Amino acid sequence: MSSRRQLLVQAAALAGAALTPAAWSSAIAQTRMADDPFGLGVASGEPSPDGMVLWTRLAPKLREPLGGMTPAPVTVRWEVATDPAMRQTVARGRALAVAEAGHSIHVEVRGLSPGREYWYRFNAAGHASPIGRTRTSPAADVAIDRLKLAYASCQKYSAGYYSAHAVLAADQPDLVLFLGDYIYEEANTGRGVRAHPVAEPVDLAGYRERYAWYKADENLQAAHAAAPWMVTWDDHEVANDYGGDQDRTNPSPATFLKRRAAAYQAFYENMPLRRNRMPVGPDMLLYRSLDWGRLAQVQMLDTRQYRNHRTCEAVSEGKRIPADCPERSEPSRSLLGDPQEQWLQGRFRSTPAQWNLLAQQYLMGELFSAPGKVGNDGWDGYVASRRRVLEGWRDAKVSNPMVLGGDIHCFFAGELSLEPGGKPLASEFVGGSISSLGRPNLDINRLVAGNPRLKYGDGESRGYGRVEITPRAATVTFRAVADALVPNSTVSDLATFVVEAGNPELKRV
Ligand SMILES: [Fe+2]
Repeated sequence: MSSRRQLLVQAAALAGAALTPAAWSSAIAQTRMADDPFGLGVASGEPSPDGMVLWTRLAPKLREPLGGMTPAPVTVRWEVATDPAMRQTVARGRALAVAEAGHSIHVEVRGLSPGREYWYRFNAAGHASPIGRTRTSPAADVAIDRLKLAYASCQKYSAGYYSAHAVLAADQPDLVLFLGDYIYEEANTGRGVRAHPVAEPVDLAGYRERYAWYKADENLQAAHAAAPWMVTWDDHEVANDYGGDQDRTNPSPATFLKRRAAAYQAFYENMPLRRNRMPVGPDMLLYRSLDWGRLAQVQMLDTRQYRNHRTCEAVSEGKRIPADCPERSEPSRSLLGDPQEQWLQGRFRSTPAQWNLLAQQYLMGELFSAPGKVGNDGWDGYVASRRRVLEGWRDAKVSNPMVLGGDIHCFFAGELSLEPGGKPLASEFVGGSISSLGRPNLDINRLVAGNPRLKYGDGESRGYGRVEITPRAATVTFRAVADALVPNSTVSDLATFVVEAGNPELKRV
């Protein structure tokens, strides 16, 4: 076997693609493409001490089926360098972009040095991609003095512009956590500030097209190219308010699971995830953890795929249910499912980290939307499941638990305790949204007043959260866009909180 063919065999094995001899030759004999195939940008993710995932998806004509690609596989060359001009290359290789994976590639780079910056780019069909910046995480046993991360969620394309992403990129964080609602599946109502295709996606072609509309945004591409991401999903990556094998409009699991399979496949194809996350039918294992030396561990949850069906649905008005509905507290009801709960408790018992970040979709603590009323779409519908997490922190003496969340399109900061008014066990920071519309502060101020565990709320600002962690304290800054309804808006600090190590109480600074 020639060394060129050997390389391709290795690349195909890595890409998980089975190729026929005809596909080999077409991959080898491809010609230049007239259009730049890198219109969806580049991304990296899942940093480890020796590498990370490098991602791209070839699409020379963004708005066409298959992104303007023919079904033939295409060889993509990748390289990693220690300088932004890509002069000092330290790793390179090839991967095959195949139609079955939407011509996406997920390269798992290994053999790099821990805790340092790298730059990367791709070449295919006579075109070079933009250069991305990424980094490896620090070695596991090393004391680290700082982690700078950003977290974000909820970027409804039609609702606003992604100025928040441009500023997040300029911050050059070590890591970005994306906490769900990367796309919205809803049909475009025409009321938003930016149009996209009107059809609601229900199959793989539809979801691929929706990702292409979102990922063509240059500010979103800049945020991906600025730092490695770790992503999870919420409901809108599949369907509004879905849970387990059901959504609101489609109670038949057989039909809904087909749609879920298509949505999960498109999510995998469009995210810088490791190949062991590739979905199998309607199942995709997304919960996982990531260590940043001994300083921090991120435990990232999937609160959609395994949850029990909606709580107290018979007495609900929209998502609002009576807080004393007995089903809320049934011990068997879980937002995470038993295997994920067991996994999380295992993380709690084994984590060596000084800070433990629970990265998930919601406001985690109880939220009375009116006296005696709570919502049933998040943790408030699964009280026993939440209690097991809080007790897990307490019993395993988890060091500095901190919850990061999204979903509600508002900024909230608060404290979590087992009983109302009890000793705080963890701090909690939620939101806001990159572009999805929030709620008037008149409502938010009423919520904060009615829920004393909350220390702050803002529903009118779009933006993201910046978290700086040191062994002594975590500083969380809510970053707000001046106006997400216009392009290129400025961003400023809305509020800053400090949580000192050993004390989850918030201090506003
Ligand atoms: Fe959302």
